[in-house]
Amino acid sequence: MTSLPKPDIRPADPRFSAGPTRKRPGWSLDALSGAALGRSHRSALGKAKLKQVIDLTREVLEVPDDYRIGIVPASDTGAVEMAMWSMLGPRPVMVAAWENFGQAWVTDADKQLPLNDLTLLTAPYGQLPDFSDYNGSQDLVFTANGTTSGVKVADYGFIPDDREGVTICDATSAVFAQELPWNKLDVVTYSWQKVMGGEAAHGMLILSPHAVERLESYSPPWPLPKIFRLTKGGKLIEGIFEGSTINTPSLLCAEDHLDGLNWAKANNGLQGMYDRADANAQVIWDWHEKRDWIDNLAENDAERSNTGVCLKIVDPRVTSLPKDQQAAFAKSIVTMLGEENVALDFGAYRTAPPGFRLWVSGLTPIDDVKAVLPWLDWAFETKIQELKNA
Ligand SMILES: Cc1ncc(COP(=O)(O)O)c(C=O)c1O
Repeated sequence: MTSLPKPDIRPADPRFSAGPTRKRPGWSLDALSGAALGRSHRSALGKAKLKQVIDLTREVLEVPDDYRIGIVPASDTGAVEMAMWSMLGPRPVMVAAWENFGQAWVTDADKQLPLNDLTLLTAPYGQLPDFSDYNGSQDLVFTANGTTSGVKVADYGFIPDDREGVTICDATSAVFAQELPWNKLDVVTYSWQKVMGGEAAHGMLILSPHAVERLESYSPPWPLPKIFRLTKGGKLIEGIFEGSTINTPSLLCAEDHLDGLNWAKANNGLQGMYDRADANAQVIWDWHEKRDWIDNLAENDAERSNTGVCLKIVDPRVTSLPKDQQAAFAKSIVTMLGEENVALDFGAYRTAPPGFRLWVSGLTPIDDVKAVLPWLDWAFETKIQELKNA
């Protein structure tokens, strides 16, 4: 192919970053005008705002009535680690990882926590590990959607409903885009800045009754810092799940998350979020299926993510290059489209195979997804010509 003409339609919004992600359509700072700024988070108003986040989360995310929902410090990482440090220890533990963030929980379990009976289920980028050894007697830590590989858990059937172990699911890039089977999940965590485009600050920690049982019946032998403590005197601190946060939250961020939740509610709720993410991802899948130079990083179609769609360059003119040059080639495309203000921050994660990651959850207008693809073709052909001429 000779070089392609430069496309003339740009996405209206070039932000395709996988975190923080773009905000909902039509967002402006006016959305925050009702924030309880300068007020105590323990005042009636502050607490009401936090309780509203919890109540609206239950409604929009369709969280079962008997699950607790809490706002916790330190974003998704804080929520996952407080669950791991508070609950793990009494049973054998399995940690599954198939990309960068799952690997972080492996490091926690393997190198930081003193766990006696630990099994790691791992897989390379593009694949899921084999979950068949999980039989419900172990505790399990896993990500619902591997953000840096674009591979999601497509079938949670391997988790028995009547398990004794607790399942800790980092769902930060899955929630509000992929259905979460609540009966399989005891701890679900996520942040506001990922699928809901909110401001980054806090984590959400959702607990099943089984998770609460664990918290109330087990006290870990290691010290727990105050920001990890979910129980007092062997009882769950219920206030955390009613808006009395452990320490000071940002009421500005809370307002922003309320705005995102209200937008989702007004736009066909959870199903609307699922449908828009699916339709957006499908646009990219249909595009790469017609191309020889690019493919989905996920090897199994059923496991392809509909939030951070991860793509790898498969053209032999690129794959025959040494790895660092492949990465430089992909990066030159990211830089080129950034300079054109077509797409920003969409490079593959630094530890992932060279390529791209386009965030397309339920807040991204489909026309922007359609508009970015001809630019990728154009940038690829332009860079291939440069490579030939070098
Ligand atoms: C799957 C997953 N887990 C954890 C994190 C870390 O999230 P946070 O920065 O909210 O702590 C990320 C961030 O992208 C992620 O994608």
